[in-house]
Amino acid sequence: MQELSVRHLLGIKDITPQDIQLIFETADNFKDVLNRPIKKVPSLRDITIANVFFENSTRTRLSFELAEKRLSADVINFSSSGSSVKKGETLLDTVNNILAMKVDMIVMRHSSPGAAHFLSKHIPANIVNAGDGTHEHPTQALLDSFSIRERLGEVAGKKVVIIGDILHSRVALSNIFALQKQGAEVMVCGPITLLPKYIKELGVQVETNVRKALEWCDVANVLRIQLERQQMKYFPSLREYTLYYGIDKKMLDSLNKEIVLMHPGPINRGVELSSDAADSHHSIILNQVENGVAIRMAVLYLLAQKG
Ligand code: CP
Repeated sequence: MQELSVRHLLGIKDITPQDIQLIFETADNFKDVLNRPIKKVPSLRDITIANVFFENSTRTRLSFELAEKRLSADVINFSSSGSSVKKGETLLDTVNNILAMKVDMIVMRHSSPGAAHFLSKHIPANIVNAGDGTHEHPTQALLDSFSIRERLGEVAGKKVVIIGDILHSRVALSNIFALQKQGAEVMVCGPITLLPKYIKELGVQVETNVRKALEWCDVANVLRIQLERQQMKYFPSLREYTLYYGIDKKMLDSLNKEIVLMHPGPINRGVELSSDAADSHHSIILNQVENGVAIRMAVLYLLAQKG
């Protein structure tokens, strides 16, 4: 049986193209399961998983919980709000107390970049990074590439532009690593103030004109402006951002080509995407969400084999 090269999923940077293929092939099988009347398999019947969330989430948290339940794992959920973190308990003490209850795997979202790597050096359980600050969001990038593969047949050779707040985006970084490992061409597009200084060193093309970026690409992955992570003003106003970087259906239709529109969510409707674009035939946004469950089932299942 094939297995992953890692026993934690901390970031796409740490995994191989073969790992990505194995996750996709496993997710294909789980997607078949999810389309059956009985959407459940006993694969992780003896495994207990804790979803430990120190940051807000809708999609990732529910998707992991559903993936775990579809695999018949026992599941517990922890949110830092309302917990003893508010009384000063450390991250390591919190997780060690959860593990003392005989938990086998930790799925963690945290606002600090590197939090999942830190945990992996101090605890024995498998860890899945569900987003660590501005660093990585590996399962999001996997479900994004899986959705491109589903829509376009393959990822290799495709031109993908990631548009928006690249500076604060863990989704952008994980997508760049994932797409390049699969042989896609990657461009980033946004106001110069929202593009990291090191970005060209990652081997991506850089464009500040959104129209030119859309003309170039097969796939546009549009990101949210992360106001909660911004320490200063990076553009004059949201209205001005929308004027220069907002995407609407008229713009997409005027390209006169097939273009795949993606967004990791949550969408700020009327800011980076108009409703008529987000809900158009170009959009695969809800397919991304659907595929997230199969991808997370695959990741959890494969990591459980590594013990
Ligand atoms: N895409 C994503 O991570 O969404 P949530 O923040 O709702 O989990």
